Amino acid sequence: MCLQDADMSGHPSSSDSSRGRSSFEASYDSSFGRKNREETASASIFRSSALNIAMSSEDGQASKLPTPGENIQSKRHSYEIIKMLGKGGFGAVYQVKRGKDEEMFAMKCETNDVKKAVLTMDCKVLRGANIIQSPHFCTVQDRGKISDRFRFLIMKLVGRNLWDLRMERDSQSFTLSTSLKCAEQSLMSIEDLHRIGFLHRDIKPGNFAIGCQNSKEYHTIFMLDFGLCRKFIGDNLNKDLRMPRTTAPFRGTTRYAAIAALRQMEQSRKDDIEAWLYMVVEWTSAALPWRKLKGADKEEVLRWKEDVRSGDALEDFLTDCPKREFQTIMTYLDTLAYQSIPDYNYLYYCLHHAMKANSIDPHEPLDWDPEHKYHGPTKLDRDKRMDPKMDAKLKDEANAGEVGHGK
Ligand SMILES: Nc1ncnc2c1ncn2[C@@H]1O[C@H](COP(=O)(O)OP(=O)(O)OP(=O)(O)O)[C@@H](O)[C@H]1O
Ligand SMILES: [Mg+2]
Repeated sequence: MCLQDADMSGHPSSSDSSRGRSSFEASYDSSFGRKNREETASASIFRSSALNIAMSSEDGQASKLPTPGENIQSKRHSYEIIKMLGKGGFGAVYQVKRGKDEEMFAMKCETNDVKKAVLTMDCKVLRGANIIQSPHFCTVQDRGKISDRFRFLIMKLVGRNLWDLRMERDSQSFTLSTSLKCAEQSLMSIEDLHRIGFLHRDIKPGNFAIGCQNSKEYHTIFMLDFGLCRKFIGDNLNKDLRMPRTTAPFRGTTRYAAIAALRQMEQSRKDDIEAWLYMVVEWTSAALPWRKLKGADKEEVLRWKEDVRSGDALEDFLTDCPKREFQTIMTYLDTLAYQSIPDYNYLYYCLHHAMKANSIDPHEPLDWDPEHKYHGPTKLDRDKRMDPKMDAKLKDEANAGEVGHGK
């Protein structure tokens, strides 16, 4: 479809949204009868209470976690703790050095007294993403446990997260070129995650990072943190959706959570994408109108999100953003239901339209690497990955119990 000729005034309504989709997807939809730091602390507190994590105190948890200089042994290797990279509700992430070759990795730890182990979910998701050879996920290298203290996962070390990168900028926003490039890559990672049968349910800038500086992945966006993932299709990956629960406890981070999540409805693919849109608006315009509200203010954040759907509130919300395209995306997302398969291609198309309408050079450097032309994974790379053979392989692995089964 030609970008300039496109009508951006609105996405087809739910009744004709099969445009550009495979007949499988169209019939699939109709067969269902149609239709501070980003509140991490509050999200973590919420997670702790919601999942009933028995953590006597922050100190109790800290004393179990490793400290810089300590050596941690798996069955195969020894790792030296270099420094802490991040700390969340379930444990912490460290930079570690492998003893045998001094190669650097990231180690995600989870203390052994959490009631609900989520590190397993990180492992399952990363393995699935590896099968479809997505460039947006870290490879898992090793795992292990230290008795009475913690379990750990060793994975590829990546660079700064997208929250820190934005906050470091004087404007507290990315240039439109960088925002749209990050938007495209992060959306491709969400599509890949959905393809392997999982929802993320905590899409936010701290859960995306760039590759390491001086590596060939410095322009690649990685998706992190699969602790809140949920499998949305049946175990055999036959594309049968799990039945939605009538109510679902809130999972996620209030600032970015989709309206359905704030209403405690079962989340679905559209909700990851709605959260993605809030994240992209924040990257582009420096702030979300509800930024001062915290996790406890869910009702108020919900009202804000309902308000920005139209009128002056929408105008203000999309100040400094490509209004036409972002509004089109929001209107489109609002037509989707729990069962809908989002039309990812339409979303990429809206992003490309925004790039073209704003005369953005596809090779324009990213904000964190002004000296080099952009060389991150593109939509073309993603199209090559959409090989049905991959789906068959994924299904085999699922049947063999290698991927999925998370609740
Ligand atoms: N593979 C990695 N390489 C480098 N840094 C990483 C890696 N994984 C995570 N980090 C850093 O650690 C931070 C926390 O990681 P992650 O989100 O996986 O943990 P978490 O315990 O779930 O945290 P939170 O509760 O804050 O979301 C990330 O924002 C990122 O900065
Ligand atoms: Mg996180």
